[in-house]
Amino acid sequence: MTGNADSEAVEMQDIRKEELKMKIIIGNDHTASEMKKEIMQYLTELGHEVVNYGVDTTESCDYPKIGAEVGYAVAAGKGDCGILICGTGVGISIAANKVKGIRAAVCSDVTTARLVKQHNNANIIAFGARIVGIEAAKDIVKVYLDAEFQGGRHSRRIEMIHEIE
Ligand code: RB5
Repeated sequence: MTGNADSEAVEMQDIRKEELKMKIIIGNDHTASEMKKEIMQYLTELGHEVVNYGVDTTESCDYPKIGAEVGYAVAAGKGDCGILICGTGVGISIAANKVKGIRAAVCSDVTTARLVKQHNNANIIAFGARIVGIEAAKDIVKVYLDAEFQGGRHSRRIEMIHEIE
């Protein structure tokens, strides 16, 4: 490769990285302040922009409010997707799923994380700070962000879900 071709390749890689950058809205309750911090740092290192809607202390708080706030923000297009963390990931995702247009999926493993993007085009993933460790949580987030929606028959099924709303 010539010097020129080299620098063009590097430039293309930089453009691609820029295109892949996402704005991610994150929310958590008191059970997940520490995990949220680590996930935020990880996402920032990957080059994404992260907006924090969660709490930063261990003082008890109500997860429905945070799930709803992140749900409304994602539904309004204030971010490309959302991440929610509570003790189990369940309560906070149930709250987010009450918002029209939200498909929040609880993931405790990477296979689920991949499939909820490929098949359900989940716009929020959730997990439990009391259920998964930090390394598993990072893997779940990375696999979800890297996966692509497959469209086709899955689009029809997603439309059917939203007709229920
Ligand atoms: C808080 O104690 C806990 O109930 C909450 O984090 C979550 O697990 C609810 O689904």
